[in-house]
Amino acid sequence: MQNTVNILVLVSGNGSNLQALINADQRGALGTGRIAATLADRAGVYAMERARLANVPALLQTPNKALPITQRRQDLSDRVLQLCRERDIGLIVLAGFLSILVDDIIHEYAGRIINVHPSLLPKFGGVGMYGERVHQAVLDAGEPESGCTVHLVDAGTDTGLILLQRRVPVLAGDTAATLAERIHHEEHIAIVEGTALMVTQIAAS
Ligand code: GRF
Repeated sequence: MQNTVNILVLVSGNGSNLQALINADQRGALGTGRIAATLADRAGVYAMERARLANVPALLQTPNKALPITQRRQDLSDRVLQLCRERDIGLIVLAGFLSILVDDIIHEYAGRIINVHPSLLPKFGGVGMYGERVHQAVLDAGEPESGCTVHLVDAGTDTGLILLQRRVPVLAGDTAATLAERIHHEEHIAIVEGTALMVTQIAAS
């Protein structure tokens, strides 16, 4: 029998990608993976409510704003790593997580952290490229299509190995909001496919 892969989903907002993963887990679409916990970096986000409704442990670790930015990232990353060790986490999924993970967690979980980004990387990724800014930049550049990318997380921003992409057309009259909505739908499919792919790899390793 293959090992169970405990998955930690990191969130910062609405959590619709988390919901897609919870639904996939419930219908058995994550193979030997199971959503072991969710962790948010801010209180009161709807993602945590989704976790509670699904009986998934909802953890909270907020950045320590008293620390300078470099140490703040390190401190939060180390706390997340500690929780991963305690809960025997095999795969970390960033599903709209806005904090940046650095140092030990990136090394210890190399090849076992994935992120979903709402553009066709390497286009429209990098520092500051999140939320509506991504979609506005796509529109401003006159791109005929956009989409989403599931990729491994490395020490860079949106630079890790691409696992899969899903594409959508940019339509006449699109706004950042309408394009975001079209892509969001594809993210929900992509994040489940990417997670299932990683679970298969990790369980077999
Ligand atoms: C998604 O667009 C994702 O690509 C980005 O943040 C958004 C999160 O949406 N990284 P949700 O919280 O899963 O609804």
